[in-house]
Amino acid sequence: MARTAVTTRADAVALDAADPLAAFRDRFELGEGRRIYVDGNSLGALAHDAQAALEARIGEWGDRLVTGWHDWVDAPVTVGDRLAGAALGAGPGQVIVSDSTTVNLYKLAAAALDARPGAIVCDPADFPTDRYVLQGLSARMGRELRMLDTDPVAGPQPAEVERACAGGAALVVLSAVNYRSGSFARMAEITAAGHAAGALVLWDLCHAAGAVEVDLDAVGADLAVGCTYKYLNAGPGSPALLYVRSGLQAELRSPIWGWFSQADQFAMGPEYEPVEGIGRFLAGTPPIVALAAVDAGAAMLADAGLARVRAKAAALTSLAVDLHDQRLAPLGFTLGTPREPERRGAHVSLRHPDAWRICRALIDRADVIPDFRAPDSIRFGLAPLYTRHVDVWDAVDRLADIVESGEHEGSEAATARVT
Ligand SMILES: Cc1ncc(COP(=O)(O)O)c(C=O)c1O
Repeated sequence: MARTAVTTRADAVALDAADPLAAFRDRFELGEGRRIYVDGNSLGALAHDAQAALEARIGEWGDRLVTGWHDWVDAPVTVGDRLAGAALGAGPGQVIVSDSTTVNLYKLAAAALDARPGAIVCDPADFPTDRYVLQGLSARMGRELRMLDTDPVAGPQPAEVERACAGGAALVVLSAVNYRSGSFARMAEITAAGHAAGALVLWDLCHAAGAVEVDLDAVGADLAVGCTYKYLNAGPGSPALLYVRSGLQAELRSPIWGWFSQADQFAMGPEYEPVEGIGRFLAGTPPIVALAAVDAGAAMLADAGLARVRAKAAALTSLAVDLHDQRLAPLGFTLGTPREPERRGAHVSLRHPDAWRICRALIDRADVIPDFRAPDSIRFGLAPLYTRHVDVWDAVDRLADIVESGEHEGSEAATARVT
């Protein structure tokens, strides 16, 4: 997309007028007030489609009671297929939606370690739950845990993964889009580097699914997990995706031998025998109500088209980078996100030594909702389906005003558990 310099608010308004996804904003519950929501990378906004789908599912529950299970039981797989096509570049039969990202990561990492000898490679700059799960598995299974030493802004590079895998490795676990910096990894090259060392490669897609073109099949990914409550807008605690490349499924076994992954589930037989296909990574009863919202989120994304979503994410983050340079850098901010649009997801990280207090003041006094990530980052999540260019302009403008006026100095030091 050709970029024109935005130097006035009217320029941002003009970009919104030309935005092919502009109409999607009306399909969300965002209110008409002054509030600007730039935290869609933490929790996506409520879509009317998701609300209607949830209400319909609850109605089915009321009407059909247990007879509804006949139609609900395959939802993790059917919703997974829809999500695979809409957001993940994955063919059918490779994705399920159930459980949380953390639990799915445990299932896949443990299955991979059972199938391959050697070390685990991960990035300590990735989201902590990934590291904790891998530390636990490393201790339990007696595997070496090798940590990359990556640049905090650029993220992991293929050559670093190659070096960390030297001598062979069992499993590489990395985020496609880093939760703090928003850097978008070179997935194909990194996957190839892991494969060259004999490792399986597992991608955490939490900040990538619905924000960038992931293309799991094309990059040769083995395994992936990711949440649906960010850019898929399926609501707080909505179930997570789990991907296993079809050629690998028969070789892997989930460490949780639950009845939903049993070959003949309702025979209630004495021995566990996992079903063929992606269903073998299910565990217990899936969250049928919440799956309705994931389905609605995937359908909306299919409707918008991932290429248009990606282009809008690049346009919004580019605007934020430009405005950072114009208004925020002179106030002591530094950019914590790569400058090349193709190396970013849909959020930007604005670093400042007083980031916590500035973030609090933005929320409490300026009606802008971003979030804070220790030690010094304010994240602006620019969810492409409902964020306008003018929101980016106004959010940066209010941020600059807060710091210029020193208003944040009255905010409390860090006390809350979440922003
Ligand atoms: C990159 C990443 N991985 C994993 C998680 C954890 O997911 P959950 O708490 O749903 O298991 C998050 C949550 O925000 C995340 O951002």
